[in-house]
Amino acid sequence: MKRTKIIDALACTDYGCEMTVMGWVRSKRGSKNVNFIALNDGSTIKNIQIVADVEKFDDELLRQIGTGASIACTGTLVESQGAGQAAEIQAESIKLFGACAPDYPMQKKGQTFEYMRQHAHMRLRTNTFGAVMRIRHNMAMAIHTYFHEHGYYYFHTPLITASDCEGAGQMFQVTTKNLYDLKKDEKGSIIYDDDFFGKQTSLTVSGQLEGELGATALGAIYTFGPTFRAENSNTPRHLAEFWMIEPEVCFIDLDDLMDLEEDFIKYCVRWALEHCKDDLEFLNKMIDKGLIERLEGVLKEEFVRLDYTRGIEILQEAIKSGRKFEFPCNWGDDLASEHERYLVEEYFKKPVIMTHYPKKIKAFYMKIDEEVPTFNGELQEPTVQGTDVLFPSIGEIIGGSVREEDYDKLKGEIEERHIPMKDMWWYMDTRRFGSCPHGGFGLGFERLILFVTGMANIRDVIPFPRTPKSAEF
Ligand code: 4AD
Ligand code: MG
Repeated sequence: MKRTKIIDALACTDYGCEMTVMGWVRSKRGSKNVNFIALNDGSTIKNIQIVADVEKFDDELLRQIGTGASIACTGTLVESQGAGQAAEIQAESIKLFGACAPDYPMQKKGQTFEYMRQHAHMRLRTNTFGAVMRIRHNMAMAIHTYFHEHGYYYFHTPLITASDCEGAGQMFQVTTKNLYDLKKDEKGSIIYDDDFFGKQTSLTVSGQLEGELGATALGAIYTFGPTFRAENSNTPRHLAEFWMIEPEVCFIDLDDLMDLEEDFIKYCVRWALEHCKDDLEFLNKMIDKGLIERLEGVLKEEFVRLDYTRGIEILQEAIKSGRKFEFPCNWGDDLASEHERYLVEEYFKKPVIMTHYPKKIKAFYMKIDEEVPTFNGELQEPTVQGTDVLFPSIGEIIGGSVREEDYDKLKGEIEERHIPMKDMWWYMDTRRFGSCPHGGFGLGFERLILFVTGMANIRDVIPFPRTPKSAEF
């Protein structure tokens, strides 16, 4: 008989009809006469209840239908007597696909997240991870839909690259060389001429540079793919392998870029509220009581647009009135996450787009501001048209900028930072052949999922996290 998905079975009001559902047993309870089986097939957070009269079924079969087992059940859809569900199935026949061994790791309720990470291959079958993964899928759909509807082309940038976009030296090398027998030149440097690509290559930290090539031909593109960073940060917000969305668009200025960032994030949050209601309600109840209110709040708020220099002023005023921070924050310092959180969660109490950072704490490609700011009456160093979108409880969710389009200024930055010019020739060509104003940003997909699900740790919003000393599954 044809299978009905549980999401459809629960929505069906054609009581009395016969249907077959298949899934995994979440729990079984019962008495001498009747067993109640809660069945889930991943199509929804909700289980369907199967009512099995004990006398109709083989004892041994019922014994094997425990938590985790996979079964098919054919029966009559009836209006439920119990509270909390509309329909249940009065079982006529049950087929056991696979019994579940007694050491099933998701047997008990209330396991810690750390325990579940150690059993990440099975944690997907829990309510929480089911909800997170369905929301993750929905956010991917939201992103593709947003850009498609706004005239951006999905553009595929390479994962293996010979350039370091962020210049932060956090790249994983890609090689087919025999690591036990590395040939070196007289200076002691490894020879890559005979390596697979004939040069040193790595996994990409960002698709932006190639994205700019796409945008300066197609007008507007976005990437959406895996990104790799070998940064040894063991925090709840960093992964070594994460997914990034990077739109890049021509003929825009800083205000247009910030409008895009704000509109895009709000679109994604709205999509979640509209398409993931059951899962959000579950997470709101079990994980984070303020979740739905916070999501709705973001839609109502206009994001604060805050100049870095003004941000430092606010932070220093706070310090003067007794607010303690672990790290200093003088003009020129990169903000620590405690500073970002102060601004977003305590001072403004809404998302903040921070701009005009000092040039020296940002990447080489950002457009240099004409005006140099003064702080405490003193002229400071040049700033750039970079934008970080800072979110409550997440911190930086987006990093972006208007790009330096002037060939000479860009070349100056590359030289000042000792980036090997020979690796950048193709990038520089965009500034020689019809250079144009353009900009874009990178959204960390998992950071968006953190925000939308209310989960606390980035390792719990990607199926199989990659972090320092951890590449299981
Ligand atoms: O600020 P980032 O480093 O910017 C770029 O890579 C630019 N090339 C983007 C662009 O303008 N096209 O990274 C962008 C975002 C961050 O704001 C953060 O959300 C996420 O990527 N991110 C990480 N997410 C998880 N784990 C990490 N290790 C991350 N590093 C960055
Ligand atoms: Mg950044």
